[in-house]
Amino acid sequence: MGGGISAYKTLDLIRRLRERGASVRVVMTNAAKQFITPLSAAALSGDKVYDDLFSLTDETEMGHIELSRAADLVVVAPATADLLARMANGLANDLASTALLATDKKTLVAPAMNVRMWLHPATQRNLATLRAQGMLFCGPADGEMACGEYGPGRMSEPLEIVAAIEAALTTSTLLDLPTDLSKGMARSASLSGRHVVVTAGPTHEPIDPVRYIANRSSGRQGYAIAQAAHAAGARVTLISGPVAIADPAGVKVVHVNTAEEMLGAVSAALPADIFVAAAAVADWRVDAVGATKIKKTSADPPVLRLIENPDILSRVAHLASGRPRLVVGFAAETDDLEQNARKKLVQKGCDLIVANSVAMGSTTFGGASNTVQIVTRESNEPWPEMSKHEVAAQLVGRLSQMLDNTL
Ligand code: C5P
Repeated sequence: MGGGISAYKTLDLIRRLRERGASVRVVMTNAAKQFITPLSAAALSGDKVYDDLFSLTDETEMGHIELSRAADLVVVAPATADLLARMANGLANDLASTALLATDKKTLVAPAMNVRMWLHPATQRNLATLRAQGMLFCGPADGEMACGEYGPGRMSEPLEIVAAIEAALTTSTLLDLPTDLSKGMARSASLSGRHVVVTAGPTHEPIDPVRYIANRSSGRQGYAIAQAAHAAGARVTLISGPVAIADPAGVKVVHVNTAEEMLGAVSAALPADIFVAAAAVADWRVDAVGATKIKKTSADPPVLRLIENPDILSRVAHLASGRPRLVVGFAAETDDLEQNARKKLVQKGCDLIVANSVAMGSTTFGGASNTVQIVTRESNEPWPEMSKHEVAAQLVGRLSQMLDNTL
């Protein structure tokens, strides 16, 4: 934990991780202790807090080298400009930087700093160094800062960091499912040299300048797929409708609002080896969008005439030339999951459908986990309930295998 105002969010991050069964050991810099007391961090982590490089008692209990290696993953949150600079230059002048230099584990960094500090060439140079070393990043997000400025530099929200942690841990244990599922799957997913285009999130279809039609898609599954494809070495373009998720690091993100904009962005992003349509694209849009806000008058309420949106998935799957080798669709169904998914597979012309149930009471929309069936022309495979990141990692493994088989 570095020293920044967003350190208060790290306390919640510790709580969220513990809720999910993780054990968390906290190392604080001196600056972090100006913002958060070690007592709070210890109470929430249920463990002592480490902060002193030269503590004899700490060294006899757990040496600083062991401290850096006993974990499955090292998370730096908040990663201040100073801490990033020290990491990029290999300094080891306190316990946190020493542990970071000595670790042999993956490191996930959640930066947080003032926007000018973030944009400064020195910080950007340090980031480039750390990225080149394979360090994983979550955020920062855009928004208003404690200092009153606006822009990139806010630490990602605790649940976003949890999702990034799950993704990092899942990709390292990729395809190690203790079930029959792993049998037919590639042992390691490699999409190196491939271009993967993913759509995610809802679309917003305007009614007038202030109102729109939307749906409950959170974008989490699509973002997880983009992250997993990136982790497997692909060049990834993520075309996203409006969501409340930070752009994944290393992925080119194109933000759109409407279905038509999404189609335009997908067409511009092609060619690709794989196209994954995870977005919940609105089926209809308003025919005549009001140029000004529709007024509430005493007369009858307005009647909206809807017209059909382009089906992006179907268009890409039916491209006469330049069709991606693998086209993947999603089917959210309330009943007859397999039958409806298979119908969609044929109608839309895709190679694989990820079918999930959105029956009443399901938490697919917005939730962190997903229970899916993978439907191809030849097979139907029900997968057990998994986190959306696990689904993404397994799917990417499956796609890399299919791509290799179609060579
Ligand atoms: O037809 P339905 O909306 O149920 O199909 C879902 C699949 O089709 C998803 O993969 C979704 O991303 C894609 N789709 C699309 N463009 C649309 C509607 C759906 O790409 N206009």
